[in-house]
Amino acid sequence: MTDPDPLGLWRRLADASVLLDGFHAVKHAVRFGADVPVAVAVDRRAALALAGELAPDVRATLETLLTEVPEATYASLVPRPHPTAVAALAVRPAREANLRALARTPRTAPVVVLDDPRNLGNAGAVIRLAAGFGATGVVTTGTLDPWHPTVVRGGAGLHFATAVERLTADELPAGPMFALDPEGEDIRGVKLPDDAVLAFGSERSGLSGALRARADQLLALPMRPQVSSYNLATSVAMTLYHWSATGGATRV
Ligand SMILES: C[S@@+](CC[C@H](N)C(=O)[O-])C[C@H]1O[C@@H](n2cnc3c(N)ncnc32)[C@H](O)[C@@H]1O
Repeated sequence: MTDPDPLGLWRRLADASVLLDGFHAVKHAVRFGADVPVAVAVDRRAALALAGELAPDVRATLETLLTEVPEATYASLVPRPHPTAVAALAVRPAREANLRALARTPRTAPVVVLDDPRNLGNAGAVIRLAAGFGATGVVTTGTLDPWHPTVVRGGAGLHFATAVERLTADELPAGPMFALDPEGEDIRGVKLPDDAVLAFGSERSGLSGALRARADQLLALPMRPQVSSYNLATSVAMTLYHWSATGGATRV
């Protein structure tokens, strides 16, 4: 089934919706329960064949959703055409629902906090990691919008698999906070609890005073003395892996 006026629907919804750019973003969003009112493909048959091959669980949904549009039309809907030439719009989850998910206790998986992150690609990569490890959510402080289209692109549609919100330092979820900093205690000797709040500093200036003050413990990732620091997203990857390898993430 195709929408009689997908372009009209798209243009009406675009400003208030989350753009899912490319087959994998659409697949992940559908798989994790996003409300997707409109989806387009330049080659509908090819997109459904890809779904049959890579994501049979979402094929039937995509068959209902996908409308074929000319290439020029597709290109007019997205800022940067994707090689799969598939795109969709999704409804952004309600902030209240995400706040409830972040506040729910007992928590069975950590919340990742990015303290004033600056790089949109890093934020997207972190959301993808959080989704992969089954983290409760990703919270950012500062000015970066974690739902910015570039972050959503970097997150491969996985914003719908974890709770993503921007909060102030005063509003962070409860729970023991472990803040990652090269000056901290070696993480290898510490078991991270499932209700941990894992905080990471800004690419530019590291952890803010507010987050340092709130932290229960500073933890360091192993690193040779001559190296100043790791990239933000790789630091989150190592820390979530450490949580999973020391007993967390039983559902992964
Ligand atoms: C690119 S680093 C920040 C570098 C920054 N110039 C500074 O002064 O700290 C971004 C964040 O990754 C984490 N990080 C990077 N390397 C780390 C390490 N060896 N141990 C613990 N955390 C680390 C910290 O949370 C850090 O604030």
